[in-house]
Amino acid sequence: MKTHIQHPIFGIIAEAAHELNIATYAIGGFVRDIILNRPCKDIDIVAVGSGIDLANLVAKKIGKKTKVTVFKNFGTAMLNYQDYEVEFVGARKESYNRNSRKPIVEDGTLKDDQNRRDFTINALTISLNNHNLGELLDPFKGLKDIENKILRTPLDPDITYSDDPLRMMRAIRFATQLNFTIDSESLKSIKNNKERIKIVSKERVIDELNKIILSPTPSVGFKLLFDTGLLKIIFPELDNLKGIEIINGKSHKDNFYHTIEVLDNISLNTDNLWLRWAAIMHDIAKPATKRFEQDHGWTFHGHEDKGARMIPKIFKELKLPLDAKMKYVQKLVRLHLRPIALVKDVSDSAVRRLLFDAGDDIDDLMTLCNADITSKNPEKVKRYLINFKLVRQKLKKIEEKDQLRNWQPPISGELIMETFDLRPCREIGIIKDAIREAILDGDLENKYDSAYQFMVKKGKELGLSVREK
Ligand code: CTP
Repeated sequence: MKTHIQHPIFGIIAEAAHELNIATYAIGGFVRDIILNRPCKDIDIVAVGSGIDLANLVAKKIGKKTKVTVFKNFGTAMLNYQDYEVEFVGARKESYNRNSRKPIVEDGTLKDDQNRRDFTINALTISLNNHNLGELLDPFKGLKDIENKILRTPLDPDITYSDDPLRMMRAIRFATQLNFTIDSESLKSIKNNKERIKIVSKERVIDELNKIILSPTPSVGFKLLFDTGLLKIIFPELDNLKGIEIINGKSHKDNFYHTIEVLDNISLNTDNLWLRWAAIMHDIAKPATKRFEQDHGWTFHGHEDKGARMIPKIFKELKLPLDAKMKYVQKLVRLHLRPIALVKDVSDSAVRRLLFDAGDDIDDLMTLCNADITSKNPEKVKRYLINFKLVRQKLKKIEEKDQLRNWQPPISGELIMETFDLRPCREIGIIKDAIREAILDGDLENKYDSAYQFMVKKGKELGLSVREK
């Protein structure tokens, strides 16, 4: 391990630890990521003694007015050195009360500190002490678990998960990010302890969920969330998409599996968390709109509108932002069927209307719709993708010609008022709408002069007269 702690920061920490006579180690995700060959800029240092004293001496040795941020309540201290963020903590022993995630903390040995960690792969430790500098201390065979791609808890999983139920989410998150398997005892324990996730703050749960969503193949995590029963507790609306129903021999697809397949598909093309959220939400209202019609079989009429309307409540419940990001997700959900409909009606005016409604998000909408094509029939998929290509070409052509993406009306309300000498009244809205509709239908050029003529004509039809200059 010595080659991995060549960076000067480790020499400085080892020197300070030696001077203070405090046994000191690098631990946790930093060590795990060295072995996994993943870049990691956060170093966790555990000191069998005062982590704060150690941090202060390290800062003094670095010089250059290095600032130490101390969190007295937690007994931790943090400093930045070059591009590393180093956190110091005293080795501790934790005991938990059943109803809280907040432990009673006592000073402890290195062994106590390793015992309180979530997974064997996160309890790996590198010594920063002179007598065995760089030695890997691996009390729970974490190295072997990395080789076998297994997530295991150092202690009985019922203790580890019950102590800190967020670790159930972390297990699923690591399994998804690293493509590891959760050990069967651990998985059983998550199922048994699932209800305890309720004592964890929603913000922490959503942090982990977002990390799952941003993984290369998020469906891995969602399947585990479903199978363990956690999904039903943290996100019941998504859980509710699971299952198929058969009437008169006709079934519909399982919308849960479809949704996570769409999510995997979109993840190949975007790292935008909110576009991935739009994929998760696109069919969320299918259970609420599901009908069986004798002539048509299963239908989900209006699920795009209903889904968009469901989003504020779901975002609020999940503690997701209720700002422009939510509006963006709503808009994509509301419009997600429109490009598909264009495959059948690719008239200029239908394309123009979509450009107008989607605005700057048109490319993201097309990415979502592409991901939504998940038929098991390869011929059908091929046909759709070819048609979709045509829709994209058409969108591009009309966008270049009409520039409707961020459409601003060529005639303002003020100009209408001035032209006909009006105070604020209904007629202004009627004229504005008529101009917009005529442009979208392709009956009117998107230019000032032609729109001015049209306004005068429309005003006259409404019985208005142009003010004398
Ligand atoms: N840890 C834990 N239980 C938790 C959170 C963290 O035991 N609920 C321990 C683990 O040993 C972990 C270390 O604290 O390795 C640091 O936690 P954190 O920085 O949250 O995670 P990392 O493991 O570093 O992973 P990542 O940076 O990917 O979140």
